[in-house]
Amino acid sequence: MSRSFGSTMFLLLLCLMAGTCLSIVPEKEKNPWYWREQAQRTLQHSLKLQNLNTNVARNVILFLGDGMGVSTVTAARILKGQLHHKLGEDFQLEMDKFPFVALSKTYNTNAQVPDSAGTATAYLCGVKSNEGTVGVSAAVTRSQCNTTKGNEVTSILRWAKDAGKSVGIVTTTRVNHATPSAAYAHSADRDWYSDNEMPPEALNQGCKDIAYQLMHNIPDIEVIMGGGRKYMFPKNTTDVEYGDDPKARGTRLDGQVLIDVWKGKKPRNKNAHYVWNRMQLMNLDLNNVDYLLGLFEPSDMVYELNRNNKTDPSLSEMVEVAIKILRKNPKGFFLLVEGGRIDHGHHEGKAKQALHEAVEMDRAIGLAGTLTSLEDTLTVVTADHSHVFTFGGYTPRGNSIFGLAPVVSDTDNKPYTSILYGNGPGYKVVAGQRENVSTVDYAHDNYQAQSAVPLSYETHGGEDVAVFAKGPMAHLLHGVQEQNYIPHVMAYASCIGSIMDHCQSHPSAGLAPQPALFSGLLTLLLLLSLLF
Ligand SMILES: *[C@@H]1O[C@H](CO)[C@@H](O)[C@H](O)[C@H]1NC(C)=O
Ligand SMILES: *[C@@H]1O[C@H](CO)[C@@H](O)[C@H](O)[C@H]1NC(C)=O
Ligand SMILES: *[C@@H]1O[C@H](CO)[C@@H](O)[C@H](O)[C@H]1NC(C)=O
Ligand SMILES: *[C@@H]1O[C@H](CO)[C@@H](O)[C@H](O)[C@H]1NC(C)=O
Ligand SMILES: [Zn+2]
Repeated sequence: MSRSFGSTMFLLLLCLMAGTCLSIVPEKEKNPWYWREQAQRTLQHSLKLQNLNTNVARNVILFLGDGMGVSTVTAARILKGQLHHKLGEDFQLEMDKFPFVALSKTYNTNAQVPDSAGTATAYLCGVKSNEGTVGVSAAVTRSQCNTTKGNEVTSILRWAKDAGKSVGIVTTTRVNHATPSAAYAHSADRDWYSDNEMPPEALNQGCKDIAYQLMHNIPDIEVIMGGGRKYMFPKNTTDVEYGDDPKARGTRLDGQVLIDVWKGKKPRNKNAHYVWNRMQLMNLDLNNVDYLLGLFEPSDMVYELNRNNKTDPSLSEMVEVAIKILRKNPKGFFLLVEGGRIDHGHHEGKAKQALHEAVEMDRAIGLAGTLTSLEDTLTVVTADHSHVFTFGGYTPRGNSIFGLAPVVSDTDNKPYTSILYGNGPGYKVVAGQRENVSTVDYAHDNYQAQSAVPLSYETHGGEDVAVFAKGPMAHLLHGVQEQNYIPHVMAYASCIGSIMDHCQSHPSAGLAPQPALFSGLLTLLLLLSLLF
């Protein structure tokens, strides 16, 4: 890197002086016609969006990139492009191709910068709540079991199930982690993974851990895939895959084998399969699978960059299996897919891990698009919150997303990576000065980008996140909205949940809901008749 350093700097100076970089700018882009034609094509495409898709969404798929703020989306776009040997900036992610985009305000009721539990309650249950709580309203205080009762709120997964649809959860974290748990559990604390993680007081007051709720409660979920095996087995049970690792052993104090509980609750005439490795998953005859439980790791799944492709499925592979099982239901399905470890990569300051997780989720989005139709499937892609992740430094076109800014700091004369964090574990002072990154392998998978403030765990960011939508009623996701608006749109589009006025004249799915204006007028007339 240091070899080409001087020449890169020279090139950039030349670029700045000349106004263009002869060696970097693609030839076609020098012709104004290229840009005008490209914009006109986009314009024609945009004009067609006036023909709104007002079908009933038989299926709804929600892709949730945990911690996938807008800066992460842009960096993942450049990375994916560069993985395809392109410059990167002008590449299109699968989510970039979605026609409708909104911004989502992510704050929790008690937090300006939110966490994944309160936000999951917002975008799954439609109600904002306190940080650290899942599936409960803001009347619940974190960790206080006795504030839970009567304050439970249900999720779109439940609404879909109640409407006779099949439902599924696919995640790269533990299946009882914050994001998925808001879909099926009600817990005053997201960290109550099993009874082992709960304070005795909460157990005494009758609260149940999240893994217990997943396996015991309605709604009964057709497809559950992710990590979290250890929370399903009695304490100290040896793990099937990591026999030597004490951290992989079972955690449950109540002695229950939740895999057996799960199986025992399924009707005898249905096929329920539990799998714990990729081979078993790939060998399933999906036509003969009614229920699938896949737990591929004791805790969270392994980062995509480190994944053993023999033992662990990728997120895309899990999504393909899930859709093929769920779509057998003629009434349709609701599927929650979480790219859950984008967040973990960022927390560790490991931007490369985080961005590869985001790219893998984008692959899964593309694959889901090939298995479903815009006519009957609403697909929404969003994040729960952002991170203090940024990239900048006047990097030239096509610069490696993990590369250096072209000019050293004019203050400490040292180079710096384009990617930086506002805080986190990458803070590095050597001999009283900021580390010279040219002396380290900053393109390494586990390199921790420099941060301004030292923290062992980088924090979430507080700015809005994007919501991408395609399919029936996708246009309702527009403008700057509260995060809890999202499941209300998904429910309206699929004619599920408690607000169904617009669907009543068409009880069967597949027919268009009444235009919103019409039901709005009806409500107005009703109100007027009450007044007079
Ligand atoms: C709820 O539990 C807390 C301890 O977690 C206790 O201080 C409080 O008095 C209890 N409240 C009620 C109404 O029982
Ligand atoms: C846990 O299991 C291991 C391996 O089976 C065993 O050696 C150990 O004694 C057990 N520990 C407890 C506390 O039961
Ligand atoms: C698994 O990884 C190896 C090594 O990178 C690769 O050669 C192989 O094609 C991969 N297999 C699958 C099924 O992705
Ligand atoms: C930073 O490290 C590179 C590579 O070792 C070296 O060429 C350069 O002089 C160093 N810069 C400073 C300011 O120490
Ligand atoms: Zn996080």
